[in-house]
Amino acid sequence: MTESKRQLDSDISVPKHIAIIMDGNGRWAKKKGQPRIAGHKEGMNNVKTIATAASHLGVKVLSLYAFSTENWSRPSKEVNFLMKLPVDFFGTFMPDLIKENIRVFVTGFTDHLPDKTRKVVLKAVEDTKGNTGMILNFAFNYGGRAEIVNAAKNLAIEAASGSIDPSDIDDAMFADHLLTNHLKELADPDLLIRTSGEERISNFMLWQLAYTEMIFDDSYWPDFTVDDLVEDIKEFDRRDRRYGSV
Ligand code: IPE
Ligand code: IPE
Ligand code: MG
Repeated sequence: MTESKRQLDSDISVPKHIAIIMDGNGRWAKKKGQPRIAGHKEGMNNVKTIATAASHLGVKVLSLYAFSTENWSRPSKEVNFLMKLPVDFFGTFMPDLIKENIRVFVTGFTDHLPDKTRKVVLKAVEDTKGNTGMILNFAFNYGGRAEIVNAAKNLAIEAASGSIDPSDIDDAMFADHLLTNHLKELADPDLLIRTSGEERISNFMLWQLAYTEMIFDDSYWPDFTVDDLVEDIKEFDRRDRRYGSV
């Protein structure tokens, strides 16, 4: 049994899908008198720690918000650094991903990524497609509104061409046109964690979060620990999910 597994009693229900808005890298760096990119580098290292722990804890899908469709508006030096991070991440972490049987997915507008970034991300998806353990799903160049607009547009195209009947459009068909359709029945997060003390969604999984439990942690992402994750899972277990019922 792993260290992290030992911290959870067997009667605790582990969320199948945990999503994390990994926020606070810049402030973490500032606090240390370092440039913002140092925070992103440290944040990337923490992805390795938390993803490994989540896998050991029995999480089925870990979605990590890594870059939003709005983050392009940051200074180009920072954007360029963030676009290079996947090269570093998969270059160093791939052996562990294979060892841990973790499968990589990406949710986002990958067509709009710089060539090198897109290639490295899609190669990680390809290289881990035989893995049967936890899905590590990176939301990269992801935005919830753009995702919904994209789904609506594709449904309209299909309706106009006659391949679907508009009156057949329902929740399931709509969800099937979202960028998370590859996650199938696990597309909706059970638990959302946002670090850094901000209490907002910032355009993350607007459709999928309809009935997600939310926890806002004060730690900046590079300081978020496995113990914090375990505590959040315990808090999730204490929640009463009613889905509008009684
Ligand atoms: C989250 O940290 C990482 C990304 C958005 C890429 P931030 O870079 O937003 O850090 P803060 O919020 O400025 O501290
Ligand atoms: C959300 O954080 C995006 C990611 C963590 C990738 P932001 O830092 O971009 O969100 P705001 O600007 O505080 O809402
Ligand atoms: Mg931020």
